[in-house]
Amino acid sequence: MTTRRHVVLAAGATALTTGCGGDDSPAPSGTAQRSSTSQPSHEPTGTSTRTGDGQELAGTSQIPVGGGKVFPGPKVVVTQPTAGEFKAFSAVCTHQGCLVDKVADGTIDCPCHGSRFRVADGSVARGPATRPLPPEQITVTQDTILLAR
Ligand code: FES
Repeated sequence: MTTRRHVVLAAGATALTTGCGGDDSPAPSGTAQRSSTSQPSHEPTGTSTRTGDGQELAGTSQIPVGGGKVFPGPKVVVTQPTAGEFKAFSAVCTHQGCLVDKVADGTIDCPCHGSRFRVADGSVARGPATRPLPPEQITVTQDTILLAR
């Protein structure tokens, strides 16, 4: 009698051990797959956000004096109203949210309904927009412009 119980318990213990071992093995690899899947989505962000100063937008030589350049990705427009003075504004038009698409003749222009904003301060030069483009923070090193977000 005692021997039978012992055998049954031993068999049960073996089954439990096998069951646990079988369950445990896939779990860590599943977890590992999840983290390796999430890593690539972090990498581009880490790559585009350079250094602690912010995302590199352009070299200062790429921004014409009296004009500017639109960066559709980060939705920012950088201008250089006078030599060596750099400003940045949101590239989202305050009228109905289109992206401005060019800088010409001292204004930042929206293609949707013709609003224009001054390169010096983002103020409205021509409607229908009534509010200025909000300023964006940038850091200018010797020859590089970083978006400080
Ligand atoms: Fe820019 Fe209307 S959305 S002018």
